[in-house]
Amino acid sequence: MTNIYSNIIKVNNKNIARSIKYLKKNETVAVPTETVYGLAGNAYSDDAIRKIFKLKNRPTINPLIIHYYSVDDLAKDAELNKKFFILFKKFCPGPITFILKKKSSSRVSNIANAKLDTIAVRFPKNKDIRKILKKLNFPLAMPSANKSSSISPVCAKDVAEEFKNKLKIILDGGKCKIGIESTVVDLTQNINILRPGFISKDKISKILNSKIFSNKSLKTIKAPGSLKKHYSPGIPMKLNQTKVFNNCAFIIFGKKYIETKNTFNLSKNSNLNEAARNLYKIFRKIKGKQYKKIYVVKIPNKGVGIAINDRLKHAAN
Ligand code: TXA
Ligand code: MG
Repeated sequence: MTNIYSNIIKVNNKNIARSIKYLKKNETVAVPTETVYGLAGNAYSDDAIRKIFKLKNRPTINPLIIHYYSVDDLAKDAELNKKFFILFKKFCPGPITFILKKKSSSRVSNIANAKLDTIAVRFPKNKDIRKILKKLNFPLAMPSANKSSSISPVCAKDVAEEFKNKLKIILDGGKCKIGIESTVVDLTQNINILRPGFISKDKISKILNSKIFSNKSLKTIKAPGSLKKHYSPGIPMKLNQTKVFNNCAFIIFGKKYIETKNTFNLSKNSNLNEAARNLYKIFRKIKGKQYKKIYVVKIPNKGVGIAINDRLKHAAN
């Protein structure tokens, strides 16, 4: 039997250099970020982008996030506005993605943007991916390193389990500190949260001193990733439950519930950041067992709890 973990390599200078060499050949590399692991490729190369879509089995209408080292690099590809600079100064590098107008002179592959005239951009904070971005003369298109509509990976082993031996390099930078995908905020018209994340709508609203929409208030869904059946362990899931039945998994939060072999606690200390970090790990654990159903208790809908509830709702759909 082949070992699916054999292409995992530890982060060190030699392996970072190897990854860079590979990316320059328009090949894909799985890399750590502070949110989830990404499947990276040269954003200026149609060839590299096609490989990403194919590996993930991702619908071509679902655009990718482009990752940058600096604003100077981004200025070549997107129209920057005042709100962008305010949010950039406060939160970047960090777990936030901006939707901006794409420049007509941009070299970013149209396939990466699903032929839209907008572009999603992010400046990841993880030091290893920043080392890589700094040494490249192109940005990296990077969706989460999982098969389309599967669970996002929060460690190198998760990536290997998604792709088996299909990826030549999985750079192991340890566990993701945040564990849930970046907040996606549209800055092209009215400010609009397309995907909640670690940085909350309230924080963004406060910094900008303005009213913010969230995707539900829009008739057309702008982020295809916000469509149903995402982040799913593939087992029926019921939310806002208070008790569990035999042969079912029970996802709990805090100390209120009796723990058994079928309970999975997001955070014993009722800490929402810890819960976000544990969410996908617990999804993956449950997926590996023979449960018929997953019951989930009510999770406080504030701060990163809003993002957790968003992912739970999608998984339950
Ligand atoms: O934390 C993250 O954002 C991770 C790490 C690897 O950076 N990446 C990630 O990428 O979550 P992905 O592909 O799994 O999700 C990207 C989301 C999708 O929902 C996609 O539809 C949306 O961003 N998106 C990308 N470009 C867009 C655009 N021009 N307009 C609206 N939504 C866009
Ligand atoms: Mg994803």
